[in-house]
Amino acid sequence: MVKVRELKFKYQGAKKYALDGVDIDIPKFKYTVILGHNGSGKSTFSKLISGIYKPTDGEIYIDGIMIKKSSLRQIRKKVGIIFQNPDNQFIGSTVEDDLAFGLENSNVNPKLMFPIIKDLLNKVDMGNFLNREPHTLSGGQKQRVAIASVLALNPEIIIFDEVTSMLDPKGKEDVLKIIQDIKLTRQKTLISITHDMDEAILADNCIIFSNGKIIASGSPKELFKNHELIKKSKIDHPFIYKVSSKIDWMIPTYDIDEFLENLWK
Ligand SMILES: Nc1ncnc2c1ncn2[C@@H]1O[C@H](COP(=O)(O)OP(=O)(O)O)[C@@H](O)[C@H]1O
Ligand SMILES: [Mg+2]
Repeated sequence: MVKVRELKFKYQGAKKYALDGVDIDIPKFKYTVILGHNGSGKSTFSKLISGIYKPTDGEIYIDGIMIKKSSLRQIRKKVGIIFQNPDNQFIGSTVEDDLAFGLENSNVNPKLMFPIIKDLLNKVDMGNFLNREPHTLSGGQKQRVAIASVLALNPEIIIFDEVTSMLDPKGKEDVLKIIQDIKLTRQKTLISITHDMDEAILADNCIIFSNGKIIASGSPKELFKNHELIKKSKIDHPFIYKVSSKIDWMIPTYDIDEFLENLWK
């Protein structure tokens, strides 16, 4: 679904490449998690595959379409992105307006908009907030509206860039539940950048970035078993070490799937 070849990206004025030769295929309708230390290039990557940034070098294909100036409109329809900071992704002055804006852009008949908006907001448990101004909402509520706004555009790919990292535990739980719900009920390709190992372990697929490169990809269970890799990736999260080290000494006697299931009980 997302095919990336020899992708490089350098920010204006920067000496180093933020992405320095990235090759990856992200499968359709799967849930792919992206991990990596701060500054490893994850957000840059997500902005490149959603057509927000232009590659310095290399190629990106979305569903077979190469991202270039002439295909940008098409790409933007196919890829939706939700950012880490809940505060800078609203366009509308009310929650309803914000969703309506996306629907207008997709040429939805204005007469049909209200029920669609209501339905989308109900899905993220924000049905009673239609007339609220976004800045009066909590962080978790804002992220839920941001997800509904992206769903309104009905993209084939949805990217979540650390969408729970600024939320309190309750807000985080609510948002993760919605992501899981999208995974189960809609045919979407989901890409989630996260430091949350509870989330990563549930993914179909995992990609690890380090210093602007992809250093590994595969199933999360497979990758987390690999001590060397976890060390090398410098993922700043003690939990992964806990999982990784337990896996190591439990493997001889325990089945890895059974072990991981038990860990979350
Ligand atoms: N707007 C920017 N201008 C210049 N350099 C940037 C900008 N955003 C990110 N970078 C640099 O690019 C590299 C990758 O950053 P980023 O993609 O944000 O990493 P991550 O999301 O993995 O934390 C880092 O070295 C970072 O300092
Ligand atoms: Mg980032």
